[in-house]
Amino acid sequence: MDRLKIIGGNKLNGEIAISGAKNSALKLMAACLLTGEPLTLTNMPNLADTRFLSQLLATLGVEVYWPKGDNECRLNAAELTSTIAPYEQVRKMRASFNVLGPMLARYGHATVSLPGGCAIGARPVDLHLKALEAMGADLLVEGGYVKAAAIHGLKGARISFPFVTVGATEHAMLAATLAKGTTVLENAAREPEMVDLADCLNKMGAKISGAGTDTITIEGVAQLNGATHAVMADRIEAGTYAMAAAAAGGDVTLTGAPVAALGAMISALKESGVTVDSNEAAATLRIQRNGSALKAVSVTTQPHPGFPTDLQAQFMALMSVADGTSIIRENIFENRFMHAPELSRLGADIQVRGKEAVVQGVPKLKGAPVMATDLRASVSLVIAGLAAEGETEVNRIYHLDRGFERLEDKLTGCGADIRRLNDSEE
Ligand code: EPZ
Repeated sequence: MDRLKIIGGNKLNGEIAISGAKNSALKLMAACLLTGEPLTLTNMPNLADTRFLSQLLATLGVEVYWPKGDNECRLNAAELTSTIAPYEQVRKMRASFNVLGPMLARYGHATVSLPGGCAIGARPVDLHLKALEAMGADLLVEGGYVKAAAIHGLKGARISFPFVTVGATEHAMLAATLAKGTTVLENAAREPEMVDLADCLNKMGAKISGAGTDTITIEGVAQLNGATHAVMADRIEAGTYAMAAAAAGGDVTLTGAPVAALGAMISALKESGVTVDSNEAAATLRIQRNGSALKAVSVTTQPHPGFPTDLQAQFMALMSVADGTSIIRENIFENRFMHAPELSRLGADIQVRGKEAVVQGVPKLKGAPVMATDLRASVSLVIAGLAAEGETEVNRIYHLDRGFERLEDKLTGCGADIRRLNDSEE
């Protein structure tokens, strides 16, 4: 099993190019199932998760052309050989569940395994299912599978989500493109990935308006066509490197960064005393901290445009070396503080009380062996390791490979001392 060895203390200086967004790419890939014509996605991140979904799509009969290491992927769902997504594949990655709606909308039937919980919480899919039912789907949940049918096709519906959900908003948007009539999604997620998905679907001939607001309207069309779409830049990857630069110190410019999508993160960094220069037109974000102390800042995770839950762990790593006490409240997932005890192994002073973590900043962290528990938790340990004195070894880094493209290359390019080892190496 691979692990990362980090010798902390180096400042980060240089440029980091931001990759395509994992969480957008996964839903864009599912959109290929809505049409018999090819969907070409450029700026595709090469990640374990996106590669994994391409395998599931291939299992369903999608022709996938995506050479290793390439950032362009062509998906052609001209003829599916199966509309069954098996447990073995869906359980490995929850976003696979999103193939249900598109297959149901195009073929009138689909069977997809329930994804199950994961390390950060129970994560039910009840709101995905309610949305599909509101569009007229007959659903039978049996043996861990959702068997869905809509023999006469899906129908437009007014769907009001009881709370904001990214996945169910996207799933409903995908399915509604081919429904008869108009679908209105109320209390819809406003994450930038909604806009990316709607843009791609509209290029494919869908009629979607309002994406990025809390009301999305989708006028169903009879069929969709192929298209070419560039995956938006990854706001979470950009936020992660911004915090790495802030924690280690130095001067890093992120290029191809989705500046407008990062408002809450930029405000929190500025409040903590980090110099942030953003240029939306040039898509750059420059992060500088040279010797100045970090101030403790409290944040609460919220749906967009609030502070993102996917940057909470990284911010906690940063706050663990700030002056003073910060309170970090997690409002989206019930079990997303697993990085706290691992950060404590590096000397951080963190008390978790229910939904809140109280972080009392310490002057220095000290390297130690730690264990990655999920994707964002893993990268928070990398950030802490870069800021710590001495050697940190991060184990179980397969979590990192799910969502960060060429992480070590990008960091070593800025002067970090970070190396991937496997069991046969020292
Ligand atoms: C997406 O997950 C992201 N994943 C997550 O990123 C991200 O943390 C999350 O949105 C919030 O921004 C992908 O895009 C693949 P939700 P998703 O539906 O869609 C509850 C990462 O690290 N809920 O907005 O699953 C749910 O349990 C990952 O990249 C229901 O109760 O998130 C959670 O508490 C982790 N019933 C809350 O809503 C439902 O049917 C928000 O979840 C659906 C969700």
